Amino acid sequence: LYGVCRGNSGLCGSSCGENKVRRKINKNTADIEILPSTLRREIRKEMYTMIAIGCDHGGFVLKQEIIKFLESAGYEYEDFGTYSEESCDYPVYAKKVAHAVADGKCEKGIIICGTGIGVSIVANKVKGIRAALVHDCFSAKATREHNDANVITMGARVIGPGLATEIVKIFLETPFSNDERHIRRISQIED
Ligand code: RB5
Repeated sequence: LYGVCRGNSGLCGSSCGENKVRRKINKNTADIEILPSTLRREIRKEMYTMIAIGCDHGGFVLKQEIIKFLESAGYEYEDFGTYSEESCDYPVYAKKVAHAVADGKCEKGIIICGTGIGVSIVANKVKGIRAALVHDCFSAKATREHNDANVITMGARVIGPGLATEIVKIFLETPFSNDERHIRRISQIED
């Protein structure tokens, strides 16, 4: 991954006003975190073309909190609904997010319902989806490193917005380990 200076990002150390590739940047959280926020946004756009997010009525309020985080951190996202706390059916929204990721329209997905369970069951039925129900930071990191999870699900009736946001941050920033044993095991998941 390379940083692209667009004149005001400060990447090249001055306002050159040109699109120049100046410096190699590791796809590594620590490296990215020390960069100015404008540049972090640019890099994240390169890293994650689009995040798919969705919820049912039980997850609506938490989804809005997560969206606030995505916006402040510079992630691009597509919100697949639902868009209010009016009662609805979680499979509808879980399928929308899962298909957006499976079809390659979005790179990763976040789905929230009351428990996180229903949406995780639905998402994991979509071919190519590895959805992890996550309510702690350790699992968020581990499921990226070991399972290369491309969707996380959470329950808004289980955890609060602070922890949920930390989990999302870890999920989006942790790379897959690429270890041979994990690649082998993931390849055994699908028929
Ligand atoms: C809705 O009441 C609730 O069943 C749903 O949000 C989810 O928890 C299902 O797994």
